[in-house]
Parts: sequence; structure tokens; C-alpha cells
Amino acid sequence: MSHKPILRALAGEAVWPPPVWLMRQAGRYLPEYRAIKDSSGGFIARCTTPDLATEITLQPIRRFGMDAAILFSDILILPWALGQDVTFIDGVGPKLGPIRSAEGVDMLSPARVADATAPVLETVRRVRAELPKDCTLIGFAGAPFTVACYMIEGAGSRDFPLTRGMAYAEPALFGRLMDVLVKSTIAYLSAQISAGAEAVMLFDTWAGMLSPLQFRQHVVTPAALIVEALNARHPDVPIIGFPRLAGMYAGLYAERTGVNGVALDTGTDPARAAATLPDSVAVQGNLDPIALLAGGAAMRAETSSILDALSGRPHIFNLGHGILPQTNPDHVAELVEFLRNR
Ligand code: CP3
Repeated sequence: MSHKPILRALAGEAVWPPPVWLMRQAGRYLPEYRAIKDSSGGFIARCTTPDLATEITLQPIRRFGMDAAILFSDILILPWALGQDVTFIDGVGPKLGPIRSAEGVDMLSPARVADATAPVLETVRRVRAELPKDCTLIGFAGAPFTVACYMIEGAGSRDFPLTRGMAYAEPALFGRLMDVLVKSTIAYLSAQISAGAEAVMLFDTWAGMLSPLQFRQHVVTPAALIVEALNARHPDVPIIGFPRLAGMYAGLYAERTGVNGVALDTGTDPARAAATLPDSVAVQGNLDPIALLAGGAAMRAETSSILDALSGRPHIFNLGHGILPQTNPDHVAELVEFLRNR
């Protein structure tokens, strides 16, 4: 068994103080990231240039001594690698050539993924080689439903009506796309693990939009298939699931998927969610990113409340969603210091 705090927590140990990393810890709130951003090409180029992606992944580790490094990449690298047209527009967000027909699904090419993501896997190798000894490297992918949301809608959306509409009205077409995503996500995460990722996380940002039946079909079932396949190939590598805005399903999600950790969003009561989980499943979360933005006494009070709610059980401290670009890096340093000195 590993000595690394994050891996101990994911093995079911109540590590105290809880290890910490933050979603989007590498990114625009850091001046050293903005310096690279201003002097490099677009976002996809940064994700697929191992020198840059390695440096960006390590920036928050050097500055704050986080317990985990999260690979610098994006959930939309997979649709890009499958051959979909994907661009990131500064200040707007991702734009994709939308896929809404059988011809669109047929144009996706799972055979391209290994070559297209080779630079990402090279980044995984380099980061792993440079990591401090107690720091865990986390690989990731978007969960099939959330990735399908962007692939079908072609951009972000408040409630992804075309995606949910396709799932209801054209279940065979939607199912074919989900099937491609399940299989290529398994291959992609498995390759990240083979390259050196020590844990992997599935981001299902839009899981909470679904009806209870659709949640089981399009969130739980795909995650269960991915976990089963990864466990068969890499039995010692833990998996964290993030069914965002679906905290009331934490217990069901953990039980039916077999994940080792469940990440909670900001609005989920950690004690109530934890009460529905097996004792060995770690909880990750769930400080409000706005509390981190505010800093000071409010941030410390929110942090203490989460620590108290989860004391005595495996817990990885994190945010309930990604860090906001306007966040003062000093607040992050203050948070880590507060956690470590409790
Ligand atoms: O530090 C880390 O967490 C590692 C890297 C990471 C990024 N995106 C970098 C990124 C991770 C794990 C993600 C996940 C991701 N990407 C999700 C799931 C988690 C979540 O936040 O809900 C989603 C839905 C995406 C899709 C995405 N990527 C959007 C909607 C956007 C635009 C909005 C924005 O924040 O700009 C991105 C761009 C993106 N991904 C940036 C970064 C650092 C900003 C682009 C830039 O800096 O040039």
C-alpha cells in the first residue's frame, strides 16, 4: 500500500489532516500560468505540448505543495482526438462542430485517439518523473454524458436541451454516441494509467440535470462500465467520480459504479452524503469556490464545517467546483496552511 496521503484516503483510510488539491488548480488565477498563456498558442496547443503542459501541471505543486497534481488537459481533448472540430475561444468557452446525426457519429474515429493523445501521455510520463515523493498524479476524462453534452450542443448551455432531447427522442443514436464515448474513455484513461497516472477522475459536470431514470441510464451505467474495465486492467488504481449537482445520489452512484471516491459539489451536505456511502469510499470536496474567492474568516468557517462533517472518514479536501480565475492565489496558500495546521 502507498504512503501517499491521497492514495491512502482513496484506499479507505481516514487521513488527518485530510490531503488537499483543488479542481482547476492549474489555470488563469496563477500569474505564472497567464505568462505561459500569453506567450503560447491556443488552449489545445498548451494541452498537447508536453513542455508547456508539464510546467503548467507542476505550477500549483511548487507554489502550494498540493497533495495531488491534476494533469493539465481538458475533457474536450477526447472529442478533439476522435476527430470532432473543437476550439476554445478566449472569454467565451469551447465551440465544437455539433454532432446530431448518424453521419456525425460515424465520422468519429476511435482509431485516431491513441496518436492524437500521445503528447498528453508524454506529459503524464514527465510529470510523474518530476513529482515530489508524497504527491499523487491524477489523470482524468469527462464522463460520457457530460462530454456528449458539448459534442451535441456544440457549446456550453444552461440546460443542454438538444442533448437531453436526443436521449429521449432518438435513443438509438444517442446510445451509439455514448457507446463510442464509453469505449474511448476506457482506452484513454487506461493509457493515462499506463503512462503513470496513479488515480483517475471522471468529471460528470452536468449529471444533475437528468431525470432519475436518465441519471441511472446515462450517468451510473457508463461510469460502472468504465470502472469495471479499468479495475480489470489496473486493479490497484483508484477512481474518483464527480456526478455534479447529483449529491443526493452519492450512495447509489458509489454502490452501483464501484468508484473509490465520490466528489461532492458545493450544494451537497457532506455529512448527509457521507452517511449514504460505504465507510471505505472517500469523499472529495466541497468548499464553495466563492468562499475561496472571499478568503478570510468566512473561508475558514466553511472549511472547518466541512472538516467537522467528514472527520473520522476518508476525505480529500477540495472545492465543490473549479477555482475561479479571479481568485487571489494568496487565499489558496492561506487555505492549505489552515488545513495543514489544524
Ligand atoms: O487544473 C485542472 O483542474 C486541470 C485541467 C482541467 C481543465 N479543464 C483546464 C481548463 C480540467 C480537469 C478541466 C475539466 C473540464 N473542462 C470540465 C469539467 C469540470 C468542470 O469545471 O465542470 C469541463 C466542463 C470542461 C470544459 C471546458 N474547458 C470549458 C467549459 C471551458 C471554458 C470555461 C473556462 O473556464 O474558460 C474550458 C477551458 C479550460 N479548461 C481552461 C482551463 C485552464 C481555460 C482556458 C485557458 O486558460 O486558456
